[in-house]
Amino acid sequence: MNVLIYDTEEQIGIAAGNYMCGQVLAKSNSVLGLATGSTPLKPYNHMIQLYQQGAVDFSQVTTFNLDEYCKLDVKDENSYHSFMHKNLFDHINIPEENIHFLNGNAEDLETECAAYEERIKAAGGIDIQLLGIGSNGHIAFNEPSDSFQRWSHVVALKESTIQDNSRFFKSINEVPTHAVTMGIGSIMQAKRILIIALGENKAKAIKQLIDGHVTPACPASVLQFHTDVTLMLDKAAASLL
Ligand code: F6R
Repeated sequence: MNVLIYDTEEQIGIAAGNYMCGQVLAKSNSVLGLATGSTPLKPYNHMIQLYQQGAVDFSQVTTFNLDEYCKLDVKDENSYHSFMHKNLFDHINIPEENIHFLNGNAEDLETECAAYEERIKAAGGIDIQLLGIGSNGHIAFNEPSDSFQRWSHVVALKESTIQDNSRFFKSINEVPTHAVTMGIGSIMQAKRILIIALGENKAKAIKQLIDGHVTPACPASVLQFHTDVTLMLDKAAASLL
């Protein structure tokens, strides 16, 4: 794995934004796998800046987001749909029809998940997948468990994840209890992976990801089996390495 350690979140934002845009410069119709949460905010901001400076063009890019809450209106400010529009899509020239999300409000979630996998396949697969990591080692909403879930699926969120994500909601009771997420197999099929971790509360998961056994108890550890993974870490996230 290519492990890059930075002094500041700003530096990671620039490096990660450049990395994602570099993919688009090399292949204008790239398929990007995207994440939400606090971690990608600065990278997305840098991608917007590069677009505004005329350095990169997203008009042929296709995106697939990793996950979405269930039973939350897409217009709710906490939906990942709203997050991505506010923090990236509304500021770049990606056509709306090229943007893909799992629909957490679909009547038949299993059919929705299977259709999402087909849409990724039809787009030619994901060229680069951007990931954050949960303090418990989750990637997307693949929570620690005793087996790896291969493809997109519905998941009951762990208490620790609900706790982590409650900072975005008015109260913890408003955090949805379920989500739809790409699976470990969907993520592992991406041609390249960029994973970013910020802060001390990610240090244990990062240590396990890099040095631990590959186990569904730390879903991110499976990335050891991928051949093209870059990690961008701040010093706090790298503090146990
Ligand atoms: C979000 C996602 C999650 C986050 C993770 C870290 O789409 O897939 O796995 O990447 O929970 O979240 P932050 O970045 O808020 O610490």
